[in-house]
Amino acid sequence: MTVKYVAEPFRIKMVEPIKVLTREERKTKIKEAHYNLFNLAGEDCYIDLLTDSGTNAMSDQMWSGVMRGDEAYAGSKSYYKLVEAGKDIFNYGYIQPVHQGRAAEKVLFSAYLGKGKYAISNMFFDTTRAHVELCGARAIDCVVAEAKNPSIRVPFKGNMDVKRLEELINELGPKNVGLVVMTITNNSAGGQPVSVANMRDTAALCKKYGIPLNIDAARYAENAYFVKQREEEFKNSSIKEIVRAFFDCADMFTMSAKKDTLVNIGGLIGVKDPKNEIILGIKARCISYEGFISYGGLAGRDLEALAIGLYEGLSEDYLAYRIGQMEYLAGKLDEAGIIYQSPVGGHGVFVDAKEIFPNIPYYEFPGQVLAIELYKEAGIRTCDIGSYMLGNDPDTGEQLHADFEFTRLAIPRRVYTQAHLDVIAEALIEVKKRAHTIRHGYKITWEPPILRHFQAYLAPIAD
Ligand code: F0G
Repeated sequence: MTVKYVAEPFRIKMVEPIKVLTREERKTKIKEAHYNLFNLAGEDCYIDLLTDSGTNAMSDQMWSGVMRGDEAYAGSKSYYKLVEAGKDIFNYGYIQPVHQGRAAEKVLFSAYLGKGKYAISNMFFDTTRAHVELCGARAIDCVVAEAKNPSIRVPFKGNMDVKRLEELINELGPKNVGLVVMTITNNSAGGQPVSVANMRDTAALCKKYGIPLNIDAARYAENAYFVKQREEEFKNSSIKEIVRAFFDCADMFTMSAKKDTLVNIGGLIGVKDPKNEIILGIKARCISYEGFISYGGLAGRDLEALAIGLYEGLSEDYLAYRIGQMEYLAGKLDEAGIIYQSPVGGHGVFVDAKEIFPNIPYYEFPGQVLAIELYKEAGIRTCDIGSYMLGNDPDTGEQLHADFEFTRLAIPRRVYTQAHLDVIAEALIEVKKRAHTIRHGYKITWEPPILRHFQAYLAPIAD
């Protein structure tokens, strides 16, 4: 079924020219990049869908905020404005700016996690998992089973498997579970939303066993929009009311502000109870790692833009357009019979590369094959979310076999138009048409020991 495009609720005031290289030039560039899309120069990409993180277009209001940013080292006006915005939206007593999401994780997690402890999440993002492990703890994913099948359309595929969560807590021993983390939306499962009902059930379990509950809030506004569309209780609520209902359930949050708050850099930590004793530790670690409490690794101008972006990201008109873009693109793929994690998520389309390349095994990285083909086809940069990203077993050194072999088309916010989305859909359709001619994937010729997918070198496997 054709999906109608939701027109942009903004006009364009400034443009950034982009150029298309020829097919031959693209083939050379990707070879020179050792078939790793992270090694490409941004200007060699016509449509850059590598991530939706920090790639947002700011508004005229946010840019004027940049000019008003107060650069005082301590207690700047922009800091107070940001704290007020954070307290107002989330109803939390303590708000701490940091430079990005992983900084929030680094500053917060060691308050709860250490050797012998576990953290359980509906699904950890890779840096979040890394910070759990850097504390000496172990990270366990506990998403609902439906998330693992791209074709099953259920409204809240990002949910925590609450039954399994309780089993895990009992198996591990409640005192060994240092933290439960609810990631909204669930990025690793395809930007899939979590319902408020599921959040309440998870919070009730955490309360029963005395375990703190943290929200990984990178895409909390997109999540709230899905709740409004799909959860009966909230169909007449404002986005802000839904956000409050969600955050009321947790004790704290860590946030990469590079996504739903529409800025290019920034992060936040929030703690509900202003008397919570962990705040002292947060302040101390923030000063050591990030900078003084009132700027947390950001310039005053960044704090100011973030304070404005927090509100813009909650606009229902904007969110209807934003999710509308995903649905429009997904509609084109439905028409062409291309399988993706469905229903489509909030920040991108996660295409099932295993389905496009059924004969390419996980250890030849189908998600990476599709990403390379999309670049060659139309200069579109995407990334693998599959076995290539997952890497090797740290104990045996063997290649791990991921649950999914996705190629992620992450859509930057307020950046690309309907015509760009058409180019993306057409490129995918072309690659699918000639997919049977591609019989082999890639092998790794060099890799670093951790987070290899950012840096590894690959080479095509010949016949
Ligand atoms: N949590 C989630 C759910 C994320 O998606 C990310 C980043 C982070 C935490 C870390 O935030 O980058 O500001 O330090 N995700 C980006 C992505 C990088 O492409 O999905 P950060």
